[in-house]
Amino acid sequence: MKNILVVGGGGREHAIIMKLSESRHVGKIYCAPGNGGISKYAECFNVGATDIPGIVALAKELIPDMVVVAPDDPLVMGMADALRAEGFMVFGPNANAAIIEGSKVFSKELMKKYNIPTAFYEVFTESEKAIAYLKEQNSYPAVIKADGLALGKGVIIAQNEKEAVQAVHDMIDELKFGKSSARIVIEEFLTGPEVSVLSFTDGKTVVPMISSMDHKRALDGDKGLNTGGMGTLSPNPYYTEEIAKECMETIFLPTINAMNAEGRTFEGCLYFGLMITPNGPKVIEYNCRFGDPETQVVLPMLDADLYEVFEAVSRHELDKLEIKWHEGSCACVVMASGGYPESYPKGIEMNGMDDKGQVDGCFVYHAGTKLSEDGRFLTNGGRVIGVTAKGADLQSALDKAYEGVEKIGFDGAHYRKDIGQRALKALG
Ligand code: AMP
Ligand code: GLY
Repeated sequence: MKNILVVGGGGREHAIIMKLSESRHVGKIYCAPGNGGISKYAECFNVGATDIPGIVALAKELIPDMVVVAPDDPLVMGMADALRAEGFMVFGPNANAAIIEGSKVFSKELMKKYNIPTAFYEVFTESEKAIAYLKEQNSYPAVIKADGLALGKGVIIAQNEKEAVQAVHDMIDELKFGKSSARIVIEEFLTGPEVSVLSFTDGKTVVPMISSMDHKRALDGDKGLNTGGMGTLSPNPYYTEEIAKECMETIFLPTINAMNAEGRTFEGCLYFGLMITPNGPKVIEYNCRFGDPETQVVLPMLDADLYEVFEAVSRHELDKLEIKWHEGSCACVVMASGGYPESYPKGIEMNGMDDKGQVDGCFVYHAGTKLSEDGRFLTNGGRVIGVTAKGADLQSALDKAYEGVEKIGFDGAHYRKDIGQRALKALG
């Protein structure tokens, strides 16, 4: 049996661990740092997900057969490289490929060079030049992005010149996101439904996973602040077979080939954030990892052994596997702490879940929970849990997920009541 160490501690990692635990090959699962819910499925170690020497030392102690590095920061910082250098089998790209998420300037230049469809853009390091460009374009909304990682908050959609100028000053002059915003991208505003497509790739073969839809805004009707994601569903009804074919030809394969041509072979999960514009699908962003909370609806739909897939990627033998997906739909509703995505309390007692942190009929993926000394679940983050269910169709998956949500409570809990409504309308 294979023992696996998963690095990370959110809902995405919980979903990866629960899927791995179904594998006929997998023995022990370790997680660092994990969380309260994850600790019911994996042995957790208190080592931070960005602590490269700490994780390498832990791996040397545990000697896992594979290490899965799930979050963006450690990948961009070179954790996969450090583990590979010690001889571990790793699922996740090296730093020279993770830059596809780590630098928006890199990814935009890659797309321009290799004719991969994306929004027009310019790069700036001086605020005067950026502001002069905004004034000359005089086109709003304007999209302003910090070059580097910014905890998912580095994109500003400015509705007018005042907001745009403010965003430029905040990023370049005030370094609102630290070094990440010393360089910015200003790009064309695109319109159309958004689709997330995660893919498995070993650098030769790219296998798109079932498509999904995120709900990024905090409140119903896509109002409120941007969040890490308040809910997801799969498959995404806007992602038709025809569009999938076009994406493979114009985006997925060209991206894999472009990374190879640059000497930056990508292996792991490459996430394509797409917008289906009136002029065809375009790339909004790349992520070098599984999406969160997309993974929570994609992996339950996987009709394959996840360990076998990870191993095939690591051995560059992905072409030998046939990866299938279940029929039906999957939906995830995130329950967040009162106040999220702004400041929120922690340590609030949760009720309604069984000993394993689950409820009947759902997968409850824990994102921000911990166990009290006497074993009760407490909140410990902004996004607390993702209540996920599968159904024969989207409506039944949503119904089951919301039934699960109704069973769980904690003071201040909030969640969107309209996850999936737009998708249901698209389905007609
Ligand atoms: P990101 O943090 O890169 O995922 O971007 C956050 C969100 O900003 C995306 O999910 C889109 O909704 C939006 N966005 C980013 N780039 C553009 C663009 N060029 N046009 C319109 N919306 C965009
Ligand atoms: N849900 C969007 C992301 O993982 O970046």
